[in-house]
Amino acid sequence: MAEKTIDKMIHVLNGPNLNLLGVREPEIYGAKTLADIEAELTAQAAPRGYAIVFGQSNHEGGLVEMIQAARQAAGIIINPAAYTHTSVAVHDALKMAEGPVIELHLSNPHAREAFRHHSYVSPLATGIVAGFGAAGYAMALGALMDRLDGRTGA
Ligand code: DQA
Repeated sequence: MAEKTIDKMIHVLNGPNLNLLGVREPEIYGAKTLADIEAELTAQAAPRGYAIVFGQSNHEGGLVEMIQAARQAAGIIINPAAYTHTSVAVHDALKMAEGPVIELHLSNPHAREAFRHHSYVSPLATGIVAGFGAAGYAMALGALMDRLDGRTGA
């Protein structure tokens, strides 16, 4: 049977203020821009036959719509940014995802202010990557592709 395109599509979604990566608090979030990260992930995914769909929104509803559009993707890597800690709407949208959901943070929210310690996304996540800066995106993508390709036991 012909492979469905959607089987090889991974959505990488980013929430508010991540459009300013590289400029925003670089001591916490690093010097790389979102465009740098996107280029790296596209290059990492291509040899393994995966395509990446990127999205970023500063709006809760925008992020919800991007999650809905990713519902039937092979998998979702999401850094919901501040909405991690506040958004029932993001939680509800992610509940409809058919594939694995990887929660990603550049920083380690648990080592920061108390208001960052709760996540509405973690209970729905297959895995969580946090604290490795921009390198976390490549880690999450590698782990997700391994899982989708059946290279990991879990
Ligand atoms: C973040 C952590 C969040 O607490 C914060 O609101 C962000 C970025 C991270 O990637 O470390 O905007 O998700």
